[in-house]
Amino acid sequence: MLGSPCLLWLLAVIFLVPRAQPLDPQDFEEEEEDETETAWPPLPAVPCDYDHCRHLQVPCKELQRAGPAACLCPGLSSPAQPPDPPRMGEVSIVAEEGRAVVHWCAPFSPVLHYWLLLWDGSEAAQKGPQLNATVRRAELKGLKPGGVYVVCVVAANQAGASRVPEAGREGLEGADIPAFGPCSRFTVPPNPRTLVHAAVGVGTALALLSCAALVWHFCLRDRWGCPRRAVARAAGAL
Ligand SMILES: *[C@@H]1O[C@H](CO)[C@@H](O)[C@H](O)[C@H]1NC(C)=O
Repeated sequence: MLGSPCLLWLLAVIFLVPRAQPLDPQDFEEEEEDETETAWPPLPAVPCDYDHCRHLQVPCKELQRAGPAACLCPGLSSPAQPPDPPRMGEVSIVAEEGRAVVHWCAPFSPVLHYWLLLWDGSEAAQKGPQLNATVRRAELKGLKPGGVYVVCVVAANQAGASRVPEAGREGLEGADIPAFGPCSRFTVPPNPRTLVHAAVGVGTALALLSCAALVWHFCLRDRWGCPRRAVARAAGAL
């Protein structure tokens, strides 16, 4: 009777211990392989050197075709739809020269060309020349000092042109223009040179007035006589 538990224990040691061995080299190798697969995907995904706000940016599709290695382009909307509106960026105003440089960012849509629309207070917008799809900035000329303007950028492809909000006249009248949209309102500051001219003009006028007052005081008043002095002279003669 004593032999059978001992025998059972012996059998248990012989059959279970090798299975319970935790350090099985094959298991380890498999685990390592799993880890390397998740950390290093078979095709490394490198985005193309494409910046949708960069001026004279080569279209991403062309970068993909020309590049030595495959790269990824951002997704675009369908070419069968008009482009999404571009995003208006900074408007840099050069007040002395009556011009402004407008920057924008491309939409994530196929674009054939851009143009600008400018409202200057009259009902109709002025449409700028057509610009090719690489262009991201353009110049506005002939702006009046002190003038308020609304400028919008439009993108177009075969399917049509991007939406322009009812920004023009309403925008000029103070309605809010959404940030990150295709439009921007700006005011050209008064020309600093005209301010200097005005200041010099006012200064000169004041100086002339003072001179005139002095001349009147010392010369003309003597000739025409002052009532009080005339009375004093008459009193002296007596
Ligand atoms: C697009 O227009 C810009 C500015 O006018 C010009 O420098 C550039 O060469 C044009 N690119 C193409 C592809 O026509």
